Amino acid sequence: MSHPEPFRIRSVEPIHLIAPDRRREALEQAGHNLFKVPARDVFIDLLTDSGTGCMSDQQWASLHCADESYAGSASFERFQAAVRDVTGFPEVIPTHQGRAAERIVCETLLTPGDVVVSNGLFDTTHANVDRVKAIGMDLPDPAALRNHDPSPLKGAIDLKGLESALEKERVRFAVLTCTSNSFGGHPVPLSNAREASRLCHARGVPLFIDAARFSENAGMLARRDPDCRGRASREIAREIFSLADGCMMSAKKNGLAHIGGFIALRDKTLADKLRENLIVTEGFETYGGLAGRDLDAIAIGLKESLDEDMLGQRLGQVERFHASLQTHGIPVVLPAGGHAVYVDAAALFPHIPAEQFPGHVLACALYLEGGVRTCEIGSLMFPPGARPKGSPELTRLAIPWRTYTDAHLEHVAETLTRIAAKKASLHGMKVVSAPPALRHFRAVLAPVG
Ligand code: F0G
Repeated sequence: MSHPEPFRIRSVEPIHLIAPDRRREALEQAGHNLFKVPARDVFIDLLTDSGTGCMSDQQWASLHCADESYAGSASFERFQAAVRDVTGFPEVIPTHQGRAAERIVCETLLTPGDVVVSNGLFDTTHANVDRVKAIGMDLPDPAALRNHDPSPLKGAIDLKGLESALEKERVRFAVLTCTSNSFGGHPVPLSNAREASRLCHARGVPLFIDAARFSENAGMLARRDPDCRGRASREIAREIFSLADGCMMSAKKNGLAHIGGFIALRDKTLADKLRENLIVTEGFETYGGLAGRDLDAIAIGLKESLDEDMLGQRLGQVERFHASLQTHGIPVVLPAGGHAVYVDAAALFPHIPAEQFPGHVLACALYLEGGVRTCEIGSLMFPPGARPKGSPELTRLAIPWRTYTDAHLEHVAETLTRIAAKKASLHGMKVVSAPPALRHFRAVLAPVG
């Protein structure tokens, strides 16, 4: 069956596959760190879906009509109305991206030794919790650690673990990362969010949603969760938000914008405290480090990401790519995530131990073999101790919204197949130097031996 995109393309950006020896040179000059490879030397960029998608004609048009007033702009009013409509939270605080929202929440709420529990904090959230000397505790559903377990809803928080942490630890707040980006991009099921909310609230612990991929979470629930089948994604998302006290959002993902984020919540007193922090470092409370035009692009993007046709295309493309890799015999995390396909690099390269970063070895090989840029999610991104024992060694192939065609993704599948055929010739990597926090962004690496 064909799956036509619910849009047509009217602005294109040429891309080029540079020669293999130039790719090798670019990777060496980058210290084997793909974040340091110039984008012009990349053919197909699956490093992230963050701020890299394609905006719609309506979004581009809104930029021109934006209000750049310092305070109380009409763009802010439209942004606030859209965030309220999608989340149901009355208090809306714009930030320049997700990690700024995280910093403000962590600096305001946490004291040293506090614990933040989660189904899986993403890298920047972990770093912001660490920064204030609190402890980020990931409690993923055990199924999330079994890459080949095909259960449809693996983004859940482990409720037994949550209950025990709430009893024994000084938990200051909980976070449900929707979707669980560090464990496969799986959705948090509705029943799990309900139960997590009940457990947290019984102990007076606030629950936040990391909403970066809230619409993909809802769209996957509509397709996979018996509690949600047949419901509109917008309604499912609203119910998930209704179970929480607030959310932190990177609008670079399901806001379909190139930059932006927000905090939204119910409690006005807490919101005002957060605004005091915001104003010192991000900007006035009606723009939070963004231009008026960014606020307008997000206001429209939030709604487009819940449009059933757009969301269906988005999830469908990732699923087709996932199925194609399986047909090529590539070991992928089951089932498909909402924004990415995750390759089980430990299974692909059984001869490369976790401490030699099989996920990063594959990321480098994808670049050398086919000019494809991806991102490791494993022991390089999360050094030992940062995540539960047995966490997977993955290479994430993140698909930006509305950007690449299935033919582009077929090139990636063919590249992976060629790498799999010569895997014995690939060797591990080691870190030569790295900063203490978020080391994967800036580390210098080298082949082992
Ligand atoms: N939360 C999640 C679940 C994320 O995936 C990210 C970013 C953030 C928060 C931080 O948001 O980038 O706007 O500051 N993830 C990107 C990625 C970078 O590639 O997955 P940000």
